[in-house]
Order: sequence, then structure tokens, then C-alpha cells
Amino acid sequence: MTMKCFLVILPLLVLYWIVSNRKRSGPLTNPHYKECLRKEWYTSPNVSSTEDFGSSYQISFADVQKTFKWLYLPEIDDPEIILTVMTRVDALARRNVLRKTWMTQRNRIKSIFVIGLGGDVDQKTKELVMSEAALYGDMVVTNIEDSFSKVAFKMLSMLLYGFSKVPSAKFIGKVDDDVLFYPNVLLSYMDNNTDTIHPQGSRMYGHITETRFITAGIPTGAECCEKFDSDSKCANYVTFLGGSFLMFTRQAVEGVLMASKHRKFHRIDDTMVTGYLADDVGAQRVNMTMMFMGYEPTKEPILFSSHIPLKDHEYLEQYRIQMADFKEQRLFTKYIGE
Ligand SMILES: *[C@@H]1O[C@H](CO)[C@@H](O)[C@H](O)[C@H]1NC(C)=O
Ligand SMILES: *[C@@H]1O[C@H](CO)[C@@H](O)[C@H](O)[C@H]1NC(C)=O
Ligand SMILES: *[C@@H]1O[C@H](CO)[C@@H](O)[C@H](O)[C@H]1NC(C)=O
Repeated sequence: MTMKCFLVILPLLVLYWIVSNRKRSGPLTNPHYKECLRKEWYTSPNVSSTEDFGSSYQISFADVQKTFKWLYLPEIDDPEIILTVMTRVDALARRNVLRKTWMTQRNRIKSIFVIGLGGDVDQKTKELVMSEAALYGDMVVTNIEDSFSKVAFKMLSMLLYGFSKVPSAKFIGKVDDDVLFYPNVLLSYMDNNTDTIHPQGSRMYGHITETRFITAGIPTGAECCEKFDSDSKCANYVTFLGGSFLMFTRQAVEGVLMASKHRKFHRIDDTMVTGYLADDVGAQRVNMTMMFMGYEPTKEPILFSSHIPLKDHEYLEQYRIQMADFKEQRLFTKYIGE
């Protein structure tokens, strides 16, 4: 779809979304809420879109636009899935654990770390990160500020990277570096569920999370508001994708990149991108099973990702035990190898 075509279609999508939500049950039918959200959709002609310029790029929200540089771009071939791993500058030990565990698997997925060197990172650290990037060739480095309050910039940077620098990628995904992840299980799960998990259309895959604080049919909720720290003055009802793993179709990413300039910056990236922006562009949220978003060990037999905080040596150990178990049971051999 060309950009021009998209600009014509976007308002129609928004209109469709507003109309179609009338039929849904639940708080979204509340007219005050809808009206409120509609008012927070900004259309200043002076704000340019989120866009890649080659060696630099711009991330645009309605209230703040910033230009960044790609400081290091890895050479990659043509993966079907590009998976970005969110990691912080100082997490070298953890990156090395991932390089020794699931990132050794060679398959349709290409995984790369995304790191921001902006803010107050000192010169020595910058040099270390740049040489790490050159050594391993598995990092995208930009000069965004890598702080929790700026994580929505990082999220959009990684979506923009996947969309614009990896044209072969049918899916663009994200996983955090503290997630125990089994790409081979994910691929098997995808191959077994091609009717629900496919690259067509505008779709986002993850764990559907709902925040509902409703009083007499009207969404309310100070608790919710605090938890998600939303600048939105609208009620804080939002459905979004949370959990340990997220994946988007190209079309969903294109929509999000085009729509970001119409919404104010919102520091919780999950609710911003897979909540508000997904609704704005009519992207469908699809609930994945076999992933775990809690923080406690689980009895589920097989998961492709779980968000359990583990120390580096525990992570290594857990991964090795699980992989040995897959091999013994001859599970996923097509993806792991014999
Ligand atoms: C857009 O920029 C022009 C020229 O700088 C200015 O005159 C106009 O008021 C701006 N419009 C908005 C909506 O900010
Ligand atoms: C996919 O289906 C195959 C064949 O039934 C099965 O062996 C495999 O475990 C399934 N994969 C997942 C992740 O459920
Ligand atoms: C999504 O799937 C999980 C299982 O992974 C399930 O527990 C949850 O209820 C589902 N949520 C929705 C909204 O369907």
C-alpha cells in the first residue's frame, strides 16, 4: 500500500472503528468515552510522520517529535520473522547468555538486540557497545535515550527498524531479555495454527490483557490510571497486548507508524501501541496461547515464552534442561535439528 493511499484509508479505518465499536458490548459503547478518545486524536498538518530517512529517523507523537540516528545497523539476510530483543546498555552479561542459548538456533527467525545510547551514557560505554555490535553483528544501536520513561520511543524505533530495514520480514516481533524463550516452539506453534497466526492483514499477536474499572457501566478507576500512568483524560479502559512476547504483521506496523503522530506520547508502550494505536488503525489483537505473562513458575506443559525473572546462571540451566527434554522426547526436531 502506498503512503498516499494509506492516508486516504486511515480516516476511513478510524470511522469504521468508531462505528463498529457501537456494536460491541462493554464500556467502549459508552458515548462519553468514545467522544473523549476522538478528541484526543490530533491532526496538526505541521506534524510530520514517524519515518525512516536512511541513516536517521524520526519518531512522531502529536505533542513531541524527535529525530534519532541509526548508529549501528547489522547486516542480515532475509528472515521471515525479525525479532527485536529489548535490552539495556549495561546488560552485557544477559546478552551473552541469550547468545549462548536460544539465539544459537538457526531458523526463519532473525533476532537482534536493540540498544539506545542517548541520554547520559558515557563515552567509554558507547565505545564498548559499538565494538560489541561490530563483533557480534546482532545489534541495532541508535541514540535514543534508554530509560523506562522513553520506552515508547524504543518500541516505535524497533517497529520502524523492522518495517523499513528488513523488507523480507512478514512478522515483526519483540521479546524482552528477561524472557525465557524457545523460538523452535514458537515456530511449531505458528505452523500448527496458520488459520489464526498468519501474516495477512493488520494483526497483532500476544496476550490479550484487559483493564476494566467500571462503575455503573462507565469506566472509571484511579487504580487503573495510576497503574498505567496515562496522560489521557478519558476513562482508563483499555484492552492491549501484554505478556512476554509480541508480534505484528507488516500491515499493523505500517498502520502504527502512520498513526503515532495523531496521539500524544504515552509512556507505557504496550498500551500505547497495542491499545490506542491498534484501535485507531483497526488492527486486530489476537490472543496467543502457550505463552506466559505472569511472574511465577507455571505448570503449563510447554510454553514458547515466559516472563520469569531468573539470574543468568539459572536462565542458562533452565534453557538447557528444557532443550535436553525436547530432544529426549523428540519434540520440535524439525526446528531444533536432531
Ligand atoms: C503550522 O505552521 C504554520 C507556519 O509555521 C503556522 O502558520 C500554522 O499556524 C501552524 N498550524 C498549526 C495547526 O500549528
Ligand atoms: C504441532 O503439531 C505437531 C504434530 O501434531 C506436534 O508434534 C507439536 O507438538 C505441535 N506443536 C506445538 C507447539 O504444539
Ligand atoms: C488468552 O489466552 C490465555 C491462555 O494463554 C487465556 O488464559 C486467556 O483467558 C485468553 N484471553 C482472552 C481475552 O481470550
